[in-house]
Amino acid sequence: MWAQAIEDALTVVSQNIERFEDQFPLTSSQGDRIYRLTPNNDWTEGFWSGLLWLSYEYTNDSRYRNAAMNTVASFRERLENRVNLDHHDIGFLYSLSTKAHWIVEKDEQSRAITLRAADVLLERWREVPGILQAWGPKDDPQNGGRIIVDCLMNLPLLHWAYEQTGDERYQQAAAKQTAISRRFLVRGDDSTYHTFYFDLSTGDSIRGGTHQGSRDGSTWTRGQAWGIYGFALAYRYMRQPDLLNTAKRLARYFVDRLPEDGVVYWDFDVPQVPDTKRDSSAAAIAAAGMLEIAELLPEGDADRDWLISAAERMVAALAESYSTKGEQDAQGLLNRGSYAVRLDISPDDYVIWGDYFYLEALMRLERGVPGYWYERQRGQSGE
Ligand code: GLY
Ligand code: GLY
Repeated sequence: MWAQAIEDALTVVSQNIERFEDQFPLTSSQGDRIYRLTPNNDWTEGFWSGLLWLSYEYTNDSRYRNAAMNTVASFRERLENRVNLDHHDIGFLYSLSTKAHWIVEKDEQSRAITLRAADVLLERWREVPGILQAWGPKDDPQNGGRIIVDCLMNLPLLHWAYEQTGDERYQQAAAKQTAISRRFLVRGDDSTYHTFYFDLSTGDSIRGGTHQGSRDGSTWTRGQAWGIYGFALAYRYMRQPDLLNTAKRLARYFVDRLPEDGVVYWDFDVPQVPDTKRDSSAAAIAAAGMLEIAELLPEGDADRDWLISAAERMVAALAESYSTKGEQDAQGLLNRGSYAVRLDISPDDYVIWGDYFYLEALMRLERGVPGYWYERQRGQSGE
């Protein structure tokens, strides 16, 4: 079943190479089933690159590699010209493009570009309050002291740079950001805030809040999913048991609140009724993250079974009822992703990160191959 779902996905990715040419898919809008394209200037372009690398590794077909290499060239240019890199999503952008190229082919030039990208990310470190600033320029009155849970997925770029160079600045920033996220973004019941504010002059914590969730105290499902996967990856690099426990607890919270069909709505605190929007991308991210946690647990660990079966249930539901299989001219792999429902931005649409994590989860299930967040272990190869 996973192999068939991968074949269905590859059919779409392959058609998209011609459709997108040198541009990058972001989201569809108003259910029009047409990807809005960007010239590599948003936070999302790495996902298309990552989809192409996953597709190339699975098939060995040079069409995917050629398209992936075009994206790598575009990412090199983006870094040289510093095109809209004033945000923390440099981790998403460069992990799945130039770092993926390094992981797949050990290309030295891509390794060097990725290290430069890590340096740009590190420029967002603010000594007071001791955070990696998520959005906006330094000292920005609204965003200057703000962290967001999504950032956990950007930290593997810093960990990787530490591994490659031995320069402890990368690791220290990633470790401190992880610790402050765990302390302030994770709430007592294992739910998460999307964002948290700190005072830029004193470093004091101020309050939790949301940007894409339903309200400040609610739990945005995609934020919870970023937390699941992000803390698992933090554990992979730092091996502190508390981090793995946090990832597991966040996963438990997610699984305990799954709707009947296994695919979450956009926020855990909105009414679970038919008209409420889903976020298929949150399901895909959480599934990939739970498979990562399971991978990190020893054989026989009591939590492995429920993590794997929940991930399988979610991916099967996506493949069966949310994927675009059989739809003529579909451009996305998954229907019913939501970017920001409350803000009315692509609330029931294709979202490119959902497509990426869906294929990543399928590759994990079918071949045990992770994405491009860390160096491959022995025996993990896409072929
Ligand atoms: N990281 C941005 C989002 O999840 O929408
Ligand atoms: N992920 C950034 C935004 O939605 O504004």
